[in-house]
Amino acid sequence: MTKKVGVLVSGRGSNLQAIIDKIAEGTLPLSISVVITDVPGAFGLERATKAGIRTVTVNRKEFQDRAAFEEQINAALGDVDGVVLAGFMRILSADFINRWYHKIINIHPALLPSFTGLHAQRQAVEYGTKLAGCTVHFVDAGTDTGPIILQKVVPAYFEDDEDSLAARILEQEHIALPEALQLWAEDRLEIVGRRVKIN
Ligand code: GRF
Repeated sequence: MTKKVGVLVSGRGSNLQAIIDKIAEGTLPLSISVVITDVPGAFGLERATKAGIRTVTVNRKEFQDRAAFEEQINAALGDVDGVVLAGFMRILSADFINRWYHKIINIHPALLPSFTGLHAQRQAVEYGTKLAGCTVHFVDAGTDTGPIILQKVVPAYFEDDEDSLAARILEQEHIALPEALQLWAEDRLEIVGRRVKIN
């Protein structure tokens, strides 16, 4: 049976678009039940609407605390099989992560475990690594620490700034996220400790 996901976005939504496109092409056996954002007016919502996907805005400012905010996200997710973080810029609580244990997949624009958290591409430029890339991983209670599904590598050049490196990485994100989701959708991922076996 086709798995249903909810996708959480905070902005532009180009990774969301990559998923939408692969589903439309017929190469990704997945159904997006809902796109949820914490940022009113995020461009990702337009992409979802255009694709006929239900959207829900859960504005953190309208909730007293994180628990109430996340409860609303859970309500919007309903009975999905998994949650995709596609440029969702908030840290989720341990409660939320436990509720969706090993069912949340995140894309991070760095080769983990290097450069966790915000501005990963800038961190790579400043550190001077010669290789950079992106990581798709299951989410655990840490920040960008969960079991890695797959990674894509790009070169990093001396001439790069944050934007040029981010653009090169983003191209690979758009390949990596649908690829990882396809493996997940086909039940080919097995989590063994903190390692992911691809069957
Ligand atoms: C991506 O670089 C993603 O890895 C990071 O935030 C960015 C979101 O881009 N977490 P978009 O909204 O998918 O275009």
